[in-house]
Amino acid sequence: MGFISVLVCIIVVSFSFSPSYGFDPMDPQANITIKWDLLLSTGSSDTVKVTILNFQKYRHIEAPGWKLGWDWKGKEAISAIFGAEATQQGDCSRFKGQELPHCCDKHPVIIDLLPGAPYNTQFQNCCKGGVLSSMTQDTSKYGASFQISTIGSTASNYSDFVMAENFTLGLPGYTCGQPFEVRPTRIPVDGGRRWTQVLRTWNAVCGYSSFLSSPSPKCCVSLSAFYDSRIVDCPQCSCACQGQPGSKCVQMKETPPLLQQKRDPNEEPPPLVRCSDHMCPIQIHWHVKESYRQYWRVKMTIRNWNIIKNYSQWNMVVLHPNLKNITTVFSFSYASLNDFRTTNDSGMFWGIKYYNDMLLQQGNSGNVQSEMLLAKEPGFSFGGGWAFPRRIMFNGDECVMPQPDDYPRLPNASPLPSVVCLLHFSLPFVLLLVLLADSAGSH
Ligand SMILES: *[C@@H]1O[C@H](CO)[C@@H](O)[C@H](O)[C@H]1NC(C)=O
Ligand SMILES: *[C@@H]1O[C@H](CO)[C@@H](O)[C@H](O)[C@H]1NC(C)=O
Ligand SMILES: *[C@@H]1O[C@H](CO)[C@@H](O)[C@H](O)[C@H]1NC(C)=O
Ligand SMILES: *[C@@H]1O[C@H](CO)[C@@H](O)[C@H](O)[C@H]1NC(C)=O
Ligand SMILES: *[C@@H]1O[C@H](CO)[C@@H](O)[C@H](O)[C@H]1NC(C)=O
Ligand SMILES: *[C@@H]1O[C@H](CO)[C@@H](O)[C@H](O)[C@H]1NC(C)=O
Repeated sequence: MGFISVLVCIIVVSFSFSPSYGFDPMDPQANITIKWDLLLSTGSSDTVKVTILNFQKYRHIEAPGWKLGWDWKGKEAISAIFGAEATQQGDCSRFKGQELPHCCDKHPVIIDLLPGAPYNTQFQNCCKGGVLSSMTQDTSKYGASFQISTIGSTASNYSDFVMAENFTLGLPGYTCGQPFEVRPTRIPVDGGRRWTQVLRTWNAVCGYSSFLSSPSPKCCVSLSAFYDSRIVDCPQCSCACQGQPGSKCVQMKETPPLLQQKRDPNEEPPPLVRCSDHMCPIQIHWHVKESYRQYWRVKMTIRNWNIIKNYSQWNMVVLHPNLKNITTVFSFSYASLNDFRTTNDSGMFWGIKYYNDMLLQQGNSGNVQSEMLLAKEPGFSFGGGWAFPRRIMFNGDECVMPQPDDYPRLPNASPLPSVVCLLHFSLPFVLLLVLLADSAGSH
């Protein structure tokens, strides 16, 4: 059992050292792809279909949604648009005619139309207010598209088309690479008996970095178990420290002054949290509730400490070796996330539509919860903190875990992990232990 504790400690410690550069081992291909299909090019005018595809298993785009921007290389202007609109018309004084273009900016910023937009402004797959589901949660809602017509390009035919560059999504944490040309998109018609194809297609691929999105964590984990009376709270200052410069919070019974003020509906307001020791907008509590002969039961509670936000379409990713034997999940949806892993130890939970897919702000309900049953493997033991998750992410951002030496313990369990974890900040030592564990495992 002592050995397992050491392993748990090493796992937790090595995760706390891994920086988030955007590469995500649980979803290594995660990206948002912007597809630019040149449909028509007449010399004086081009028609382009732009599609945004959220190829991420567990990161979604919430309201106020994407704001797609790019730089024109020449003097192009958007004469007409369907399924979206530009935030600014810009200076169209260089155009003369009956009707001024929709947008003459060199850096247009396009936003989605709201649901229920007038029929003659719509386009297929449009009008979701910029919201995109993750790929796992709703396979029909992870894409959006709109169509633009442009004038003012210098190209005389499609082979001269000058592609725009410097795409941006207007979402915190996302950066996009420059567009590159790919095989023209083919479109099935007549039920797939005939295929048409567009003139030319470019893709720009965007990636997410939680560090770029916010250098401080956004959630933390607390733990408890039926075999220990203590509740291990989120580590102090997980997301910020109360009273430190730049950190704001609202005391428990106080009404926030900000709520009375009018907020810009186009900007996501920074979180405003209830005062706590951890100062996180989201707390996830993992309670090892019961042990049966062949199964054990976990209760998971997600609590919203952010008093100015309802988390719609929230999701939670959990890493635990027993998830491969998950038997029942009571009131969340669940999917295992094992396309890229051989160990079957990660899974994703999210709310059930119209029941608990909205995590309401504090004061309304403020939490969602569920229980799950896991089948015990031969030799199963609660010792060494084995029943606790190795890693938890909320909406794709890593949550801060308690230190392993604080974990709830079986009565009379050896406090070995604390010895190891005292040396938490000595990376060489940890690496040495990993090597030792490896060589021990290979004998
Ligand atoms: C983006 O995601 C799609 C779908 O998972 C994948 O096919 C593609 O290879 C990814 N692109 C990059 C550059 O990772
Ligand atoms: C794209 O961005 C780079 C770097 O900011 C800038 O130098 C370049 O002019 C931009 N391209 C266009 C067409 O504006
Ligand atoms: C496109 O126009 C260029 C001159 O601007 C010409 O050289 C080229 O042959 C044209 N291509 C086609 C496919 O018409
Ligand atoms: C959150 O949802 C509740 C109940 O639907 C609503 O009263 C409240 O205004 C919402 N808050 C925000 C910030 O949208
Ligand atoms: C992982 O799960 C898949 C499908 O549920 C199963 O076929 C595979 O054997 C599992 N692998 C391991 C190592 O448990
Ligand atoms: C747990 O899952 C593994 C891999 O899917 C399987 O081989 C094993 O039999 C399962 N154990 C129980 C107790 O269900």
